[in-house]
Amino acid sequence: MKLIIDTDPGVDDALAILYAAADPEIELLGLTTVFGNVTVEQATRNALHLVDRIGRDVPVAQGAGKPRLLPPFVPSHHVHGPEGLGSLAAPQPRRAPHAESAAEFLCRSVREHPGEVVVCPIGPITNIADAMDMDPAFAANVREIVVMGGAVDAPGNVTPFAEANTYHDPHALDVVLASGAPVTMVGLDVTLKVLLTETDFDFVAAGNGPNGSFLKEISRFYLDFYKSIGLMGCGLHDPMTLIAARYPELFSSERTALTVDTDGPAIGKTRRANGRPAVNVLLDCDAEAIKAHFLAAVTKVQ
Ligand code: BDR
Ligand code: CA
Repeated sequence: MKLIIDTDPGVDDALAILYAAADPEIELLGLTTVFGNVTVEQATRNALHLVDRIGRDVPVAQGAGKPRLLPPFVPSHHVHGPEGLGSLAAPQPRRAPHAESAAEFLCRSVREHPGEVVVCPIGPITNIADAMDMDPAFAANVREIVVMGGAVDAPGNVTPFAEANTYHDPHALDVVLASGAPVTMVGLDVTLKVLLTETDFDFVAAGNGPNGSFLKEISRFYLDFYKSIGLMGCGLHDPMTLIAARYPELFSSERTALTVDTDGPAIGKTRRANGRPAVNVLLDCDAEAIKAHFLAAVTKVQ
């Protein structure tokens, strides 16, 4: 599976990227970066560091530094740490970012492999909306867009209504939901059904040397945040998009059109709608099987 991960690393973004790297069926074409958990410059540095960690020559193309229409906002340091990787100071990456912007990289990759590229946006979805503006054929040529975002029946995680990625650029998600592209929404309806605990990170650390210890290290700050909101584990948000792309049989879904509130008190809320293309919304999952699969897979990262 040819894959591009659009990301704002981010502790769970790092988990997703290392999970993807461990899967021999995934051909990671590149990472594109976006503001969100950190600034876009920090997201790019962190993504380059993660590429160094997996020891592959995967291009990292920098994208949007702010939402399409909303004013810029403060990154989520209280959730992911001052530089996005828990308490770890992000090391200086060995490589430089790609010359193309994220939207250019996305458009070219999809144009070169029509019908083959899966895109997993796991931060605010600004770059994907920008790619759709840049190339009107993008929506038709992409194989699937599997989005970490939204909360259809579940409550939000930044407000009672909104999930963080959607809240941070609701206008961009609205463009993608209206585009007719094949979209699967992996929102809080499923991602909070799988929680990783400290014991799970001990297992990961014991299983795979330096990358396992790295994941354990960056998880501490993230787990503390979850503890502060009364949860004894962190949601498997971003890795779930990759698991959904590879193993859709582990999820149950509904075909429905969706809209997103772009203003008002429920800004960022994703709602069932009529009159626009239907998307695939994941509503339930086999949480036990997903967790067992994830832990087994992520301990294979070298
Ligand atoms: C999403 O928000 C970010 O904090 C996470 O990395 C994830 O992409 C969860 O709502
Ligand atoms: Ca993310």
